[in-house]
Amino acid sequence: MKSYLGKIYRVFIQLLATPIFLSGFFSAEAGKEYGIGFAQKLGLVFKMIRNNMSITSGSSFIEHLVMATTLLKLPKNLQGCVVECGTYKGVSATNLSLICALVGRKLEIFDSFEGLPEPSAQDKEHAILGTQETHFYEKGWWEGTLEEVKNNIKTYGKIDVCNFHKGYFNQTLPHFRQACVQIFVDVDYRDSLADCLKNLWPLLQDGCYFYVHEAQHMEIASLFYSEKWWSEELQGIAPGLVGAGTGVGIKILTEPYFSSSLGFTIKNPQKQNFKRYAQVGGLKLNLAAAGKLTTPGAMYTGESTASKS
Ligand SMILES: C[S@@+](CC[C@H](N)C(=O)[O-])C[C@H]1O[C@@H](n2cnc3c(N)ncnc32)[C@H](O)[C@@H]1O
Repeated sequence: MKSYLGKIYRVFIQLLATPIFLSGFFSAEAGKEYGIGFAQKLGLVFKMIRNNMSITSGSSFIEHLVMATTLLKLPKNLQGCVVECGTYKGVSATNLSLICALVGRKLEIFDSFEGLPEPSAQDKEHAILGTQETHFYEKGWWEGTLEEVKNNIKTYGKIDVCNFHKGYFNQTLPHFRQACVQIFVDVDYRDSLADCLKNLWPLLQDGCYFYVHEAQHMEIASLFYSEKWWSEELQGIAPGLVGAGTGVGIKILTEPYFSSSLGFTIKNPQKQNFKRYAQVGGLKLNLAAAGKLTTPGAMYTGESTASKS
């Protein structure tokens, strides 16, 4: 009885909070360059909810809407496709295909379409400190066949914008050469994530988002902080991960705080355009001393700042 009431309470709080999480999605700025307004966005929300209820899924429509928001805010003239690695039955790909069709971008979908490969020792079991759980994996789990995925996207999404790449990532990704404006990697294993990062990070445009699922797994989150790995594999510095260890706080899961499986990082963000705050501390905190965001939203190299203000 107690847990039943707890569940109702969590659903109630989630319903109250969701409009706050979606305020970015419904903001006038998101979709303005593409002529996408409130009614179209509302339609998209309903379609995504329907899709998540119709297709067996490993991610939630709220997570898809977070990714839709950054796609709607991308400058229209920034060249590149959207990539998804890790598709299962295709629900996230279906929802991303809807948004890609609206913003005129291709969705490149990579998966074995035979489920997970054999896990290495480090991927047999992952730890989540926040909820004190371990999650374990076996070869073949999370299988969605190419035919199933195509059927789902045909029925609920936009198949015309999709290209499919079947095979293990270490075989398919090295042949992929297109510029990317957003990447979503939902691949469970650290080894699979490493294959995706090695091959796709160099293709991602500066200022663009790399989303990852399983951000609560320390094995996944820690890769984004491994200076050794980034220096050896990509000759760069570790970018860090927003949502490391908890995921971005958009859902109430089992614990009494907001979390999710979604994390993200941004490639070479234009830090000189970030808001500046004087960290003077305590009562001396002088907000007037904090700088203003001089060029709001100017995230992308070469982007005109005048058009944003
Ligand atoms: C958790 S599921 C994806 C869930 C899906 N994004 C959703 O929202 O329902 C993980 C997917 O990653 C794929 N995968 C993991 N590692 C892979 C690898 N090394 N090569 C190809 N596919 C891989 C699996 O086949 C599986 O479809």
